[in-house]
Amino acid sequence: MAMDEAMMQLSGKWFHALGISQAQFAANPYPVYRHWQQTSPIKELAPGQWMILNYHDVRTILMDDRFIKRTPVPRTPPPKFHTLPVLSPSMLVTNPPDHTRLRSLVNRAFQPKHLERLRPYIAELAGELLDSFVNNGGGNLVEDYAFPLPALVIAELLGVPAKDRSLFRSLSQKIALMIDPTQEPAIRQQGQEARWELLDYFHHLAQHKKQNPGDDLLSALLQVQGQEGTLSAGELLTMSLLLLVAGHETTTNLISLGTYRLLMTPSALDELRLNPALWTSAVEECLRFESPVQLDGRMAQQDVRMGDQIIPEGASVTLVLAQANRDPVVFSNPDTFDIHRHPNMHLAFGRGIHMCLGASLARMEATIAFSQLFRYTLELHGDPVFNPNVLLRGLKSLPLIVKGAQ
Ligand code: HEM
Repeated sequence: MAMDEAMMQLSGKWFHALGISQAQFAANPYPVYRHWQQTSPIKELAPGQWMILNYHDVRTILMDDRFIKRTPVPRTPPPKFHTLPVLSPSMLVTNPPDHTRLRSLVNRAFQPKHLERLRPYIAELAGELLDSFVNNGGGNLVEDYAFPLPALVIAELLGVPAKDRSLFRSLSQKIALMIDPTQEPAIRQQGQEARWELLDYFHHLAQHKKQNPGDDLLSALLQVQGQEGTLSAGELLTMSLLLLVAGHETTTNLISLGTYRLLMTPSALDELRLNPALWTSAVEECLRFESPVQLDGRMAQQDVRMGDQIIPEGASVTLVLAQANRDPVVFSNPDTFDIHRHPNMHLAFGRGIHMCLGASLARMEATIAFSQLFRYTLELHGDPVFNPNVLLRGLKSLPLIVKGAQ
């Protein structure tokens, strides 16, 4: 989920004005967001750059077709990857009718009924990753568990063969670093390169699957492409990359931040161990409280009145999902982590036509990941380290020791 260029420049200015580093802000942005919400919840940060912090305004904009996505132009691959087709924008950044067409091609694969067949695979994978974590007496939960689990699940769903999964994992690891705006330019450059390599990999995999289709999403998309010509070769590649990137870093962050939050709330863990049915509402509260996607964005298609302000046509609007999820008008004691919270109508997956396609998958992965992990008694072994990323908030490391089985 790429941050809009203007937004990146803006974030540099914020930190300067706030007198804090990006890393400090990413570790705990909530006091700043709360202050902004209290002082001006519809905020003009700079000409043409607006920020919205109230739950009801954020939700309204997500569902209002006067606010649309700013769609980038198609990208021509660099010379080294000249065999790749021109890359068309993905569903995440397109508007109807393209968005409707692209989303409808994959919608079915992400419906809860269809995802059920992945449940045994996710449980087995979580078990394998945990076995080695436990045998080592613990480690960095992010690297050993929260990161590989969603990467391998999406690989399975797309139909990446088992023999290629270590390549797939290392490329996606490099791409994840690219998303972190504070990484050294050389590392971000490596991420760009990895992104093209992965696209090249998908291109070859698609050619292979055309001849040898399997029971997987990539084969299903190729079949549609052949029958109806509804998906260009470039769209197939951006779709594959989107599913990997959108579904990966976000779920990693949900699992690692959620684990940290649960360890900091031992009474909740005691209850969950006695009553595993509570995992469903605990996962929703992790999503609300930690908001792995903190910010969302739209562009005003026309002048729109919001409260006593007018957001002008062409303005970029940053929607602070993280603060909307802690708006006291909607959530009582919003800064309290409460696994019994009900109702919990958080906006962690967005709303409207772009609402997260993978929400059911993310919920299933997190529930399995937590319930298997907390069969063990775990202890923090040092402070967690946050990624200095304000859009996709998450941990770089969560050092844990395994003290034994429950
Ligand atoms: C869209 C959050 C996991 C695939 C979104 C959006 C949010 C979000 C907020 C809306 C963006 C917008 O309004 O522009 C999350 C969170 C996740 C997660 C918090 C995990 C905790 C996943 C997974 C997948 C996935 C596992 C599947 C592979 C997508 C796709 C879109 C999307 C394809 C674009 C949908 C569209 O534009 O119509 N996600 N996501 N996400 N997500 Fe997720």
